[in-house]
Amino acid sequence: MKILVTGGAGFIGSNFIRHILRAEAGVEVVNLDALTYAGNLENLVDVEADSRYQFVRADLRDAETVDSVFAQHVPDAVLNFAAESHVDRSLHYGVEDFIATNIGGTQHVLDAVREHGVGRFVQVSTDEVYGSLGEQEMFSEFSPIAPNNPYAATKAGADFLVRAAQRSYGMHAIITRCSNNYGPYQFPEKLIPLMIGNALGDKPLPVYGDGLHVRDWIHVEDHCSAIHRVLQKGKSGEIYNIGSMHGISNLQVIRQLLAHLGKPESLITHVEDRPGHDRRYAMDAGKIRMELGWESAYPFEEGLKGTIDWYLENRAWLDNVRSGDYVKYYESMYSDR
Ligand code: NAD
Ligand code: TYD
Repeated sequence: MKILVTGGAGFIGSNFIRHILRAEAGVEVVNLDALTYAGNLENLVDVEADSRYQFVRADLRDAETVDSVFAQHVPDAVLNFAAESHVDRSLHYGVEDFIATNIGGTQHVLDAVREHGVGRFVQVSTDEVYGSLGEQEMFSEFSPIAPNNPYAATKAGADFLVRAAQRSYGMHAIITRCSNNYGPYQFPEKLIPLMIGNALGDKPLPVYGDGLHVRDWIHVEDHCSAIHRVLQKGKSGEIYNIGSMHGISNLQVIRQLLAHLGKPESLITHVEDRPGHDRRYAMDAGKIRMELGWESAYPFEEGLKGTIDWYLENRAWLDNVRSGDYVKYYESMYSDR
């Protein structure tokens, strides 16, 4: 089977490519990625020499290019990971790139899937399309779509386009919606690698607002195994929620992280809250567990320790990513908070 992965040079896409090459001897993988600030071929150095893997630099915003990649590689299945993925950037730098890639780019992929008769398509979406929860409830696949930030709104828009293509043309399409991921190779604009990098440099850890916002953290390897299961066994037209059912506040995450690194809690610095900040996410992953037999394999505490150890062992990767344009990004994002 030949799989085309979009956004495979990013955090989850690169982990997925490693996962599927390890799991399926007969698979071929084409990685289509534009290499934005978040795309990094260093995330894939260990698979570069694998003859089953190919990289194609291409931009989903360009419909003709997308079509020509499909014509050349004729994939059996497509997994759409590529996206502008960071909430803060969508709030601070404007939403144009988010609309162009997450909505426009997804439609270009859907058009190419249909045009080239691709047999399986999976859209990698997020719990953020459901908005925010109170203290008790969980998101099910039937929860209303109610995004609260521009990133989430564009991901919701993409989900609707996927649904419409599947209903209008009868093409194969599945949507997965996963909670917050953590693990190796995550760009350090997201909470966990940002805090690890700052703590290692004895810099303040900027906690938005009171820090009691709850996220359902899942190890990226669990997300990858869930997507793999959906690719193998998921039903067209369906949505599958993915999560670890482990809600924990940002402050609790940061305290665990500081304890593992042996750094003081005095590094925690409360800063101005994120606008429209969702208070709580919690996914009911009952459907994927019952219908597809998927289970999470990484308890949070162990997964977090393993992740911190990975960043310690790969300090050069982290330092590299946290240099150059990253410094400007960090200053513009946090200087006035
Ligand atoms: P990421 O930002 O680390 O990687 C995104 C990748 O997409 C990068 O390699 C980038 O170069 C590529 N890309 C961006 N625009 C592109 C374009 N126009 N054309 C081609 N490639 C382009 O993101 P991630 O955290 O790995 O997230 C992957 C997917 O999973 C996204 O769709 C995201 O919405 C979804 N998701 C993420 C999380 C999370 O916690 N990170 C949770 C649930 C769902
Ligand atoms: P993030 O990793 O950006 O993921 P998302 O916005 O998709 O949930 O943020 C996770 C949580 O951490 C969220 O509640 C915002 C908070 N946060 C901070 O408190 N400080 C930070 O510097 C960052 C990046 C996030």
